[in-house]
Parts: sequence; C-alpha cells; structure tokens
Amino acid sequence: MRRGSVVALLGLALIAGGVATAVAVVPTWLPVAASREASRIHFVIWFVVAICIFIFAIVAAVMAYAVMKFRVREDDFEDGPPVHGHTGLEITWTVIPFVIVTAIAIVSAIVLSRNDAQAQDTLRINVLAQQFEFTFSYPDAKNVTSPVLNLPKGRSVELYMRSLDVIHSVFVPQFSQKEDIVPGLVTQIHVTPTRVGTFPLECTELCGLGHSLMRSQAVVMEPAAFDSWLKKQEKNAGPSSTGTSTTSTTSTTSTTSSTTPLSSAQAGLTVFNSNGCASCHTLTAAKATGKIGPDLDNLVAYAKTAKQPLEGFVRQSIVDPGAYVQPGYSNGIMPTTFGQSLTKEQLDHLVAFLVQSAQKSGNK
Ligand code: CUA
Repeated sequence: MRRGSVVALLGLALIAGGVATAVAVVPTWLPVAASREASRIHFVIWFVVAICIFIFAIVAAVMAYAVMKFRVREDDFEDGPPVHGHTGLEITWTVIPFVIVTAIAIVSAIVLSRNDAQAQDTLRINVLAQQFEFTFSYPDAKNVTSPVLNLPKGRSVELYMRSLDVIHSVFVPQFSQKEDIVPGLVTQIHVTPTRVGTFPLECTELCGLGHSLMRSQAVVMEPAAFDSWLKKQEKNAGPSSTGTSTTSTTSTTSTTSSTTPLSSAQAGLTVFNSNGCASCHTLTAAKATGKIGPDLDNLVAYAKTAKQPLEGFVRQSIVDPGAYVQPGYSNGIMPTTFGQSLTKEQLDHLVAFLVQSAQKSGNK
C-alpha cells in the first residue's frame, strides 16, 4: 500500500470518527444517572458506543476511499479482476468481532452481577401494580403504603414487585433499569439511589386503556428525611386504622354533613388518591379529572338509574364493578381487585367519602 493511500484512509477515518463522536457526545442522549446501578449501565453503553464509533470510522473511511479511488470510468464495462478468498483476512474479520463480542459480554456480566448484589442492610419495598396504578409498601415500617416511591439516598433498596391483573413494567429513566411485573411472579429490581430528587416512574408495558396514565414518581431523599417521613407515615397509619373506623360505620348509616364523618371522608380521599382512582374518574372533591370511567360527581343520578340505594350502589361498584355498568361506559375496565386489595376500613372510608361528595355535588 502506498503511503499516500494510508494517509488518505487515516484522514477519512478521523473525519468519520470525529463526526460520529460528536453525534454521540454533544446531544444529551441519556438521563442523569441517579443510582449506582445506572452509572454502571451507562458505562456499558459508552463502552459499546466507543467500539461502534471505532468500527464505523474504519468502515466509513474504506467505503469513501473506495468510492473515490476506484470510481468506474465512463467507458468501462468490465467486471473487474476476479478475487478469491483471502485466509488471513477471513481469520482477522472472525477473530476481531469474536474478541469484541466477548469483551462486551464480560463487561455486561460483571455489571449485571454487581448491580444485583444487595448490601447487608438492604431496604425492602413491595410494589403492587394494577390497572392503572402502583402502590408501594414498606414491610419494615408496619407496611405503610404510598402512591409514590420514596427512597433514601445511598441505601441499597430491593423492590419486590407483584401484579394483580395484567403485565405491567416499572421504569425510572434516571435509574436506567426496567423490569416487567408479571401476574403470578415476584420480580425484583435492585437500586442504590445516589442523587436526591424527584424522578418520573412510569409503566412501560401497554396494560389497558389507562396505561398512559399509570405514572408515579420516585422521590429520593436524604436518609434522615426518609426516616422521618417513614415514622410520620407509621404514626398516621396507626391511629387512623383503629380510631376512625368505628365512626365511619355509624356515620355512613346516619344522615350526612355532621362533624364526625369528616375524618372518615378525609381518610376516604387518601384511599381515593393512593389507589389511582383519579386516573380514570372525575370527582370535584378530589380534583380528579379522569375520563375513562363514570363521572363520580354524578353518582346520585347513576344510583337512581340503577334503582339502588346510593351507599350500597357505590360499595357494589367498587367491589364488583361488573354487577352494574353505567350506560355509555364499557364493562371490564375497572379493576375487579379492589375488594381484595382494600382493607375493610379503607373500603368504608372510600364509600363514605364518595357518598358524601356525591351528595354535595348532587345538591348543587
Ligand atoms: Cu400498567 Cu401500562
């Protein structure tokens, strides 16, 4: 090979490599890494991208050089010289890809095993997915539940994920991990958050009409803030589950708008918000604007159409949504699992809240 062609090839390779590097580096392709695992995954991505740029530069240079140097003359109709196999070349282009693929496999395997390695004091969080919401519960803290995934910074956290109905998938872009939640299985994700902040958490498996609304947040806090949040939740969970349950049963049977049902209705609002009802339903009292299911401000009218007493109607619609379907809405979209996933108290609170707010908006 002449020195001139080597210089030309090198120059072309540098140009192609430079352009490809700029495309890879200048736009922000990846979200900030907010966990130790994400940083490792990003390392694998950049490792592979660097190899790709290197190969791209060689291929692009050879192609451009060939196009310019061996361009066919206008009056040339020959087939060109016959070329037979070249053993040295074939060994080279078998060995190099083998080495590259093996290197990527080894790097990925190391990253996967380190990412799955739990620390001694791993925090366990249970994730329950259902159409169309996530519920996070903390077994170390009396199983307090939250509609938002709260995490302490710097601590190893393992998510144990279950689905009540169909396949969902959890994805926090800044954690760079994605895992399906499959009915009948418990799937896991290990995260060690490294950055305080609020990040989107979304379902990334088409799971029904409300899929696009199945979103929550991952909130990473300083360990002290996380501990005090968890303590506060434990305290709230304690008295409300025993204290207000008795008032709720009496309040729903008695007439409306006395002072006692307020606390039950407030607890009901919490149940409403933490079970994703707002994704599908409109309800002024909860500032909910969902359009998939019936408008809960019209419950009084719906109960009349169904020829049922309001409270029984509301309760039945939550526990057994297929029993009566309001005309204009489709059957089978409302999850049938609330009868099991809500405790009796939560259900009582929710019914009390819905009955009360429906009567209020009905009176307007
Ligand atoms: Cu759950 Cu999409």
